[in-house]
Amino acid sequence: MRFWIGNGINKNKQMVEHLQHYGVISSMKVAEVMETIDRALFVPDGASAYVDSPLAIGYNATISAPHMHATCLQLLEQNLQPGMHALDVGSGTGYLTACFAIMVGPQGRAVGVEHIPELVASSIKNIEKSAAAPLLKEGSLSVHAGDGRQGWPECAPYDAIHVGAAAPEIPQALLDQLKPGGRMVIPVGNMFQDLKVVDKNMDGSISIRSETSVRYVPLTSRDAQLRGY
Ligand SMILES: C[S@@+](CC[C@H](N)C(=O)[O-])C[C@H]1O[C@@H](n2cnc3c(N)ncnc32)[C@H](O)[C@@H]1O
Repeated sequence: MRFWIGNGINKNKQMVEHLQHYGVISSMKVAEVMETIDRALFVPDGASAYVDSPLAIGYNATISAPHMHATCLQLLEQNLQPGMHALDVGSGTGYLTACFAIMVGPQGRAVGVEHIPELVASSIKNIEKSAAAPLLKEGSLSVHAGDGRQGWPECAPYDAIHVGAAAPEIPQALLDQLKPGGRMVIPVGNMFQDLKVVDKNMDGSISIRSETSVRYVPLTSRDAQLRGY
């Protein structure tokens, strides 16, 4: 699905206004953070940054479409309050990790985990050019190379977990690292995928609902991804 094509869209602010116009963004806070973090800093040189489409970033990976980033930010908004901890699994370009860092602020913690070391390195360069650079420097934002299916236990438990690649099933390590009251947004499935909203209740029980049908690259091993899955 795509809400608009690129004609005439050449500004980050206009992209956000389109997302508001089509009802994808209803939250002022999500609009603000997506205006603050310019998507153009996270896409390959020469790519159409503000088109509502995923874009190839190499290594058989993509930066997700703006409407998917907006949808996930909206679903996680209550769990991205100042001071909270957020984990972005499959952080790719670092775009969403940077948005999380702005939302949780300097007293919070935003962690990206990506299994392609070259993407980790380029995501750090992207973030350094963005409004989230001071948070990276101060250490409330970090990006690490690793298998995101294991989460990132050092900064757990998390109020918010986002998974940017489709898992055949929800990894147990991620459920374990979710705080009671925390929320995970994760695409689940193979050919047909649903974006699942996973809430850990205060008694530790789990509630799961499907938000929408989606199409993501798989959450897999690095070797399988580099072979083309
Ligand atoms: C849709 S892409 C990037 C999403 C990211 N939100 C963005 O927009 O830049 C999904 C990412 O998940 C990564 N990935 C896939 N399996 C992974 C795993 N097991 N551990 C960590 N990262 C993984 C891929 O390398 C890819 O960068």
